[in-house]
Amino acid sequence: MDYAKQYQEYLARANHALEKACETFLPEESEVCRAARYSLLGGGKRIRAVLVLAVCDMLNGSAEAAEQFAAAVEMLHCYSLIHDDLPCMDNDDLRRGKPSCHKAFGESTAMLAGDVLLTEAFNVVANAPASPIVSVQAARALGAGAGSHGMVYGQELDLKYEALAATEEQLRLIHRNKTGALIIAAVELGCAAAGVKADTAIRKSLVRYAAEVGLVFQIVDDILDVTSTTEELGKPVGSDADNDKTTFITLYGLQGAHEKAEHHNAAALAALDALGPKADFLRLMAAELLERTADESLAGLLAQAEDMVGHLDPMEEGAVVYAELIAATGSLKGKVDELNQMLADNLARLRKALADAREDALSKHVFYYGADRESSE
Ligand code: IPE
Ligand code: IPE
Ligand code: MG
Ligand code: MG
Ligand code: MG
Repeated sequence: MDYAKQYQEYLARANHALEKACETFLPEESEVCRAARYSLLGGGKRIRAVLVLAVCDMLNGSAEAAEQFAAAVEMLHCYSLIHDDLPCMDNDDLRRGKPSCHKAFGESTAMLAGDVLLTEAFNVVANAPASPIVSVQAARALGAGAGSHGMVYGQELDLKYEALAATEEQLRLIHRNKTGALIIAAVELGCAAAGVKADTAIRKSLVRYAAEVGLVFQIVDDILDVTSTTEELGKPVGSDADNDKTTFITLYGLQGAHEKAEHHNAAALAALDALGPKADFLRLMAAELLERTADESLAGLLAQAEDMVGHLDPMEEGAVVYAELIAATGSLKGKVDELNQMLADNLARLRKALADAREDALSKHVFYYGADRESSE
């Protein structure tokens, strides 16, 4: 299977469904709906929508219903991002490569844009071409993923633990709810579109897969917040540190966090064991979501290191570290994890060298002018 081609196909279908949903449910006369469209269209990886479509496809379900459900989960996810960026939450000014909704439209409009996306997501589900039983199953799944036992609860805990140090168990609970719950909702929506009843082995396997993928996805998101670049992510890096969040990186370091993500990825794959080759797309998707750290963080770390080396040019320490970095990058293949750690360490050394150099220059400056003043007295 050509995974990338298949992903693009699902993505195109999801984007088309979102455009149709905007025409019906987000009229342009309204400033709030324009703000919602601004955040919703033209960006995002759409992994939740792709999961809905892939699961439904795998189970030979209704493509039309799945497309509406895919649009609904992305609308709901987008609302969570708009609110997540508000000053009272993570206070981030950039999202999907452009100013966050509240930066572009003001806080009150952004808040309402989130509200309208949340509300209309359920209208999209209710108006999908599906039987009443399927529609109720879908609405229930979306509500469970989004609400007091899902994303909102996770966001509540995420904010609460800014002031407290979370343990690994608490952190897992936060991640499971704020991120995992909507990813579970996505596979549940795919099952609903395919008419798969709640109490079936296949649905249980898919939910287990989604729960593990959710953890991988948030751990990787947290890693990228440290190692990637704003340009690459389209959102500010360093947001977690700025907000004093506990993450798997603050608990275990970059390497340790990556190992945890690998562990959950293995569990995600194990959950698909009974499903055979028809689940191959989901297997490849899990691998892709895990490995985005490798490419994006290596590129980001190198860019940061090279930028810093630019400042360190005349210094021997900088030159030595630079040479080490180049040598390290020469043997990248197959050693991505260790190199992530090595590059992070090198970056820390570069930072220290830069700080020392600055201090050194400053003390010479003070000495020079001090001497100068003395001699003129
Ligand atoms: C960001 O989600 C928020 C998290 C739950 C980590 P995505 O990384 O899926 O964001 P988009 O939709 O691609 O912008
Ligand atoms: C997001 O977690 C969870 C949501 C429910 C939106 P983050 O706060 O880490 O997401 P980003 O990094 O801002 O996308
Ligand atoms: Mg957040
Ligand atoms: Mg955030
Ligand atoms: Mg994040």
